[in-house]
Amino acid sequence: MMRRALLPALLLLLAACDSAPEIAFADASVTLPDDPVDLPDGPGRDAVLENCTACHSPSTMLQQPKVSREKWESIVGKMRKLYKAPVDDSAAAQVVDYMVAVQARPEATGLSP
Ligand code: HEC
Repeated sequence: MMRRALLPALLLLLAACDSAPEIAFADASVTLPDDPVDLPDGPGRDAVLENCTACHSPSTMLQQPKVSREKWESIVGKMRKLYKAPVDDSAAAQVVDYMVAVQARPEATGLSP
């Protein structure tokens, strides 16, 4: 009895689907969530955007503890070796310069007082 009642209901559902208009998406593009923090201007900014922000957001870069130039060189080296970040030598040097410069003026990041 129960089973028999199901079939007409299913058929009705199917019929409803059939006549449903095709669904059109107004905008098929995907918008990634905005990272509210932008990298401050400065030499090497483009190198960071091109070589680091594929894996890290700009705010992640700015929230790093302040470390020495040598440490930045080793971090960038680690990104290249361990994580296979495709960063060429000149870009790596620019990234290091930029990070050192930005960390020297924390007010520019808008993160630290
Ligand atoms: C291919 C992906 C990738 C790219 C490109 C990349 N990183 Fe990383 N990075 C990682 C991973 C994975 C970690 C380790 C996990 C984590 O801390 O998020 C990491 C960690 C870090 C850390 C945390 C400290 C540490 O030593 O682990 C810093 C700082 C960092 N990356 C900076 C950079 C900079 C600067 C660049 C640009 C030259 C860069 N990354 C490019 C993947 C990447």
